[in-house]
Parts: sequence; C-alpha cells; structure tokens
Amino acid sequence: MPEYDFENDVALVTGAASGIGAETARQFAAAGASVVIGDVDEDNGEDVVSEIEADGGDAVFVTTDVTEMADLETMVETAVDEFGGLDYAINNAGVAGPADPAGDIDENTWEQVIDINLNGVWRSMAAELDVLTENDGGVIVNMASVMGQVGMENSASYVASKHGVLGVTKTAAWEYADEDIRINAVCPGFVETQLLDEAGITTNEDVREWIAGKHSQDRLAQPEEISEAVLWLCSDAASFTNGEGLTVDSAYTAV
Ligand code: NAI
Repeated sequence: MPEYDFENDVALVTGAASGIGAETARQFAAAGASVVIGDVDEDNGEDVVSEIEADGGDAVFVTTDVTEMADLETMVETAVDEFGGLDYAINNAGVAGPADPAGDIDENTWEQVIDINLNGVWRSMAAELDVLTENDGGVIVNMASVMGQVGMENSASYVASKHGVLGVTKTAAWEYADEDIRINAVCPGFVETQLLDEAGITTNEDVREWIAGKHSQDRLAQPEEISEAVLWLCSDAASFTNGEGLTVDSAYTAV
C-alpha cells in the first residue's frame, strides 16, 4: 500500500459511518489528516471517531443529512472551527434505491434516491467550494459507481443518480481549476458493504455469485480497495488528474 502524508491537512467524508466512507476516514487519519465524519447514523459515526482516536488520530462526528443544506454548512464550519480549514472533501453518502423496473418506481422513492445520491453531492460541493475557494484550493472526490457509466436492470433511479454525479464532477472540474481545486469521481464495481446487504445482493448467495462473476477477479471489492483510489486522487501524485471518473471495477465495464 502506498503511504500518503496528509499531516496537518483536514479531510471531510460524508456517509463515513459505514463501508467505503468509514474506511476512507480511517485511511485519511492513518495518513495524518484530521477528519470530519458526516452521516445520519450517529452511533456508527461516533464508533468510527473512537476507532480513529484509539489509533492516535484526530476525528469529529457531525450529524449530517446530505439532503439538508444547513447540515452540510455546519459540517464544513466544523472542519474550519475544529481543525482550521478544509483540504479534501469526499462526497460519498449514498443509498441503493429500489429494485424495480423504471416504470414501477413511485415518484417519492425516485426523488429520495436522486435527492441523496445526486442532489446530496451537488449540495455538499456547494457548501465545500466556498471554503475551498477562500483557502488555497483543495480536492473534491465524489463517489459515483460503474452505474454512472452503464445501466443495470431494476436500478434506474440509482443509475440515473450516479450518471448525474459524473456530470456535475466533469463540469465543476472546469469551473474551479483556476482556483486550484481538482474535482474527480471514483466509479467502483460492487463493494462488500451494508449497502449491498440492504440491496439483497450479499444476503443471497446466488445473487452474490452472479454479481461477483461480472468482475474479472470473480469477487466483490473490499472497501479499502476503493479508499486507496480516493486517497490517491487527493494526493499530489494525482496533480494532473481532474474531471476524471476513476473506474475501480475489476473490468466490470471493460466488456
Ligand atoms: P454503506 O451503506 O456502507 O454506507 C453509506 C453511508 O451513507 C451510511 O453510513 C449511511 O448512513 C450514509 N447515508 C445514507 N443516507 C444519508 C444521508 N441522507 N445523509 C448522510 N449520510 C447518509 O454503503 P457504501 O457501499 O459504503 O456506499 C458509499 C458510497 O459508495 C455510496 O454513494 C454508494 O452509492 C457508492 N458505491 C457503493 C458500491 C457498493 O457496491 N457498495 C458500488 C459503487 C458505489
């Protein structure tokens, strides 16, 4: 594993009480960054803070619903007030959405998925960009998915939301490059997290095997294999990478 030095830097991660977000928060802290953990799940969010502190790191939890602009502003203010600024913002919070054909999704459910997965990323960026432009720049990484690149049956709201995340990422990358802000996305294949339990994928052995078989290595990813890509995008090693949807999918989208 590469070793990053984010000493004296500040990172915030939404959806960091679980899965990819929690692992990203842990990796940032291990590399020396102070970390703001934003999530609706206070219990698990506080547990991640405790783990980071037990390992000698610095972290704080802020109850944050990405559908609420005021929560996101508080999250960003916490980064500034507690740790003195903001360098990296990882907009990762997301939900799986319903497993129905497009025409059967009810309007409220459609809007909820878009409001969390897509509008939540835009809202988070709007809150973060004020601070990043006032500072000396920084890096934003939005969590998209292979579902931002291809479709999948019975996943229309999720697929639409993730295509949208790539759209706002590519556009904002151009808009803020002059401010020394790089904005990228990560597009993971299927990752072993609670989201796949909730979607009924990891709880059903047949479905799990079918999904695993869509990846060249015939398995699901572990959260740390995605967090590694996030940290790389935030590091100076990625200094010329902007507006990218970095695919980490064991060739899911290659065929
Ligand atoms: P997870 O379920 O383990 O974590 C998602 C986190 O988001 C949870 O802690 C949850 O409480 C939080 N969250 C949900 N709604 C929220 C809201 N309104 N405001 C704030 N936080 C909220 O799932 P996972 O897999 O770690 O997902 C993280 C991101 O990665 C999501 O955007 C997901 O779409 C994306 N992703 C996941 C893949 C997978 O196979 N697990 C594949 C590709 C992308």
